[in-house]
Amino acid sequence: MKKNAVVIVGAGSTHTPGIIQSLLQKKDEFLLRKLALFDIDEKRLHLVYDIMKQFINETYPGLEVVVTTNEEEAYTDIDFVFAQIRQGGLKLRSSDEKIPLKYGVVGQETCGPGGSISYGMRSIPAIIHIIKMAKKYSPNCWILNYSNPAAVVAEATRREFNNERILNICDMPTAILLSYSKMLGLDSWQSLDPCYFGLNHFGWFTALYDKDGKDRLPELREMILTSGMTACSDKHHKDKDWQKTWKQYAEIVKDYPDFLPNSYLQYYLYSSEMVAKMDINRTRADMVIEEREQEMFAEHKKYLESPENYKSPLQEFTVFGDFIVDAASSIAYNKGERFLVIVENNGAIPNMPADAMVEVPAYIRSWGPEPVSIPAIPTFHKGMMENQLASEKLAVDAYFENSYDKALQAIAINKTVPSTTVARKILDDLIDANGDYWPTLKLKNER
Ligand code: G6P
Ligand code: MN
Repeated sequence: MKKNAVVIVGAGSTHTPGIIQSLLQKKDEFLLRKLALFDIDEKRLHLVYDIMKQFINETYPGLEVVVTTNEEEAYTDIDFVFAQIRQGGLKLRSSDEKIPLKYGVVGQETCGPGGSISYGMRSIPAIIHIIKMAKKYSPNCWILNYSNPAAVVAEATRREFNNERILNICDMPTAILLSYSKMLGLDSWQSLDPCYFGLNHFGWFTALYDKDGKDRLPELREMILTSGMTACSDKHHKDKDWQKTWKQYAEIVKDYPDFLPNSYLQYYLYSSEMVAKMDINRTRADMVIEEREQEMFAEHKKYLESPENYKSPLQEFTVFGDFIVDAASSIAYNKGERFLVIVENNGAIPNMPADAMVEVPAYIRSWGPEPVSIPAIPTFHKGMMENQLASEKLAVDAYFENSYDKALQAIAINKTVPSTTVARKILDDLIDANGDYWPTLKLKNER
C-alpha cells in the first residue's frame, strides 16, 4: 500500500485535533509518509500542534511532520490537501449570523444571506487561492474540500477548475447516518447504504439499506415519530445547542414524513420559528468562541504548565475527521466506497439542471467520484432545490461578476428572506461587515 503525504489547510481550527486523531487512528487504512499542518495564523497553528504532538510522536514515530505558515513548504510534495478554512474567522461568522437576525431573518453559519451569500463570497477567493497553490506545487494532488459554505464553494470550484481532482464533501450526512445506525443498533454508519438527494445542507434520505439489503428507513421513521432522534453521533453534534436541532428534526419528519431530512432544512422550512428561537446577543458563533474554542485554549494551558508530561486529549469519536480520512483512503486505494458527496449533477437527478452541484451518493474511486443516478424527484423537493440552487448560483455570479444586482437577487430569492427591501438592507450591512474580504460590488449602470 502506498504511503500518503497530507496537508491540513486551516490547521489552527478547533476541528484539527479530531482530524489528526482520525488520521493517526486509521493509520493502517490510510498510510502516511508526511503530515503537514498549514495555517495563516501562526499562533493558532502552533497551539494545535502543541496539544497534538505527543499523540503524533507516540502513534507514528518517525513520521515527517511539517508545521508551517509558508505556502511553498506546505503544498510541496503532497498527495492530499484537506482544506477546511474559515475565512474571516469566528468574528465574521458572528456578523453573518447577527446581521440577518437584525432584520428578522435566519442568521446561520451556512444558510440564508449570512451563510450562503456573505460567507460564500468570502470563502470563494480563499479556496481558489488554496487550490491554485496546491496545484502549482503538487500538480497531481487531490483536494478534499470541506470548507463552508460547501454548496457555494463547490459551484465556484466547478466554474474555476471543473472540479479536476477536487472533492467537495460535508460531514453532516455522515453525522446523521451515524445517529441512524446507533438508533437501529448497528455498529457503524457504514452499516447503512444511504439513498439520498439534494444540495449541500439541503437534502433528503430516501432509503437506508442494511447489509441484508433491507430498507430500514420505514422503521427508523416510526422510531423518530414516536421517540424523536434519540441518539446523536459524536461529541461535536452532541452539545447543548445541537440538541435543539435534533429536537426540531422530529418536527420536520412529522410534517414531511416521506423522506428523512438533512437537519439544515429546519432553517428553510421553519424560518420564522427558528428566528424566534435565536438570540441576536448570543448566536452560535458566540457559543463556539465561549465553549469549543475555550476548551482548546484550556488544553493548551495544561500543555504549557508541563509540556513533558502533557498527554494529547482524545475524543471518543470524531465524525469530522473520520469521514474525510475514509474518503481519502477510498481515493488512495481505489476502494470504491459509497459516500454522500457534492458533484456536478449531469443527470444524476434527472429533473434538475445538469450543471447543478448536487449532493448524492457516489462510489469514490482513485479517479474520482462515480455518482449514482436516481429517479426523478417529486415536485416539492424539486421546487425547494431549484429555489436554493438559484440563490447559490447567483451568489457565485455576484462574486465573479462583482455584481451588486446579482448579490441582491441571491439574497432576495433565498427562501429565508421575506422581501426585497429587507434583502437590500441586509446586503448593505454585509458589504460593510465584509470589507476587503468581498470584491467591490458594482451596480449595473456603474459597470
Ligand atoms: C456541521 C456541518 C458543518 C458545520 C458545522 C457547524 O458539522 O456539516 O458544515 O460547519 O456543523 O457546527 P458548529 O458546532 O460550529 O456550529
Ligand atoms: Mn457541512
